[in-house]
Amino acid sequence: MFLGLDSTPAMEHLLKLVDDIVRVSMVEGTDHDYGHVQRVFHIATILAKKENADLELVQVGALLHDIGRVIGEPHGEVGAKRAGQILDGLGYPCERTARVERIVRYHVFSGRGKLESLEEKIVWDADKVDGFGAIGIARMYYMLGRRNLPFADLSWDEKHVAPTFDLLNTGTAKRLAGERFNFMIRFRSVLERELALADLSVADEYPSVRDMERRRPKLDTSAGTEIRGMRDERQTRIPGLK
Ligand SMILES: [Fe+2]
Ligand SMILES: [Fe+2]
Repeated sequence: MFLGLDSTPAMEHLLKLVDDIVRVSMVEGTDHDYGHVQRVFHIATILAKKENADLELVQVGALLHDIGRVIGEPHGEVGAKRAGQILDGLGYPCERTARVERIVRYHVFSGRGKLESLEEKIVWDADKVDGFGAIGIARMYYMLGRRNLPFADLSWDEKHVAPTFDLLNTGTAKRLAGERFNFMIRFRSVLERELALADLSVADEYPSVRDMERRRPKLDTSAGTEIRGMRDERQTRIPGLK
């Protein structure tokens, strides 16, 4: 399920060191936890390979992209400074550190117009792809709840989800996000229908409870086993970096 890293020993060593720092820095109980970083890392890896980008810059940038979240806002800016300190401390070449700093600084939504390198665009895209699909819906409601926003206020969806899809930089990201986006649109339709109680108007046409149970799709949790294992072990690092 998870990707091989296709990395040299030196690169793998660097990624392990950075991952160790990020893993203990990110705060649980947020929608920008270490799990988000792991997913962005893997999405960014797919994009980097498909788009022939500098894989090491993308992977290091993806690991560090939200490091500023645990320091303060604007988290792109403070995160870029912290990323620079971390990489300096690890002896990473100055020129490449500066490139990672740009990735972190401009990964935020408002940084979209300042993106220059392919690697910056890829991490921006990977971060946004994690906002689509079932994960995107779960994160959205988690965020709405934390901000005490009304449950049925769907403006967040309209303001952010569709515009973000149009702003994705790479064709690969659009392909990855496309299916997830379609699922969100289907979910939104069902939600609107249920909020309007429109689904209840056909109660007379409902099949029997027994028929409903027979027709209910089986929940496939096989793909989640590895991820749940990761979540159970707070200290587990990204698979492939062990
Ligand atoms: Fe962020
Ligand atoms: Fe992020």
